[in-house]
Amino acid sequence: MYEKLNLIKSICANCKKCELSKSRTNVVFSGGIPNSKLMLIGEAPGYWEDMKGEPFVGKAGQLLDKIFACVGLSRQKDVYICNTIKCRPPENRNPLPEEKDACREYLDAQIEILKPKIILICGNVALNTMLPNEHGITKARGKWFDGPFNSKMMPIFHPSYLLRNDSREKGSPKWLMWQDIKEIKRVYDLIE
Ligand code: URA
Repeated sequence: MYEKLNLIKSICANCKKCELSKSRTNVVFSGGIPNSKLMLIGEAPGYWEDMKGEPFVGKAGQLLDKIFACVGLSRQKDVYICNTIKCRPPENRNPLPEEKDACREYLDAQIEILKPKIILICGNVALNTMLPNEHGITKARGKWFDGPFNSKMMPIFHPSYLLRNDSREKGSPKWLMWQDIKEIKRVYDLIE
């Protein structure tokens, strides 16, 4: 598993399939720990991710770590983290269809090699990639969908969205995320 992932990672590190290869500082292939239980797919690297070559290391990433910690999960032990595309779009704009298409084979390879039982689809960009028939994260979040290789996929809010919505009241995005992460942990604990 590690050898195959490292091979794809080294191919990806030299990728020039789209224009983002010209502006990137680093390819952001993955973070966390390779495992067959839990994978999170985010959107795209931002400024800090591009600088450090690690996914989710900015403010959104810190909140993501806190959300996992609430249910006793951590990126050091439990979660493999990757993004829909591996290079930062200028000004953090949404990835273009051709950029997503160019990068898709790397994401597919990550899923095929790890065969995670649970895939968390974090935000609208990942939702459009993994579940193109679903319309919007607000409707799709919190539901289980059948995924590749017998996985279960759950769309969840992107932590950047939670950072813009401070309320913790019942029904608020943060409150909904709390419900979702508890359900994710419940199913996670059922997997041997
Ligand atoms: N947002 C994402 O979707 N991915 C990252 O790696 C960082 C921020």
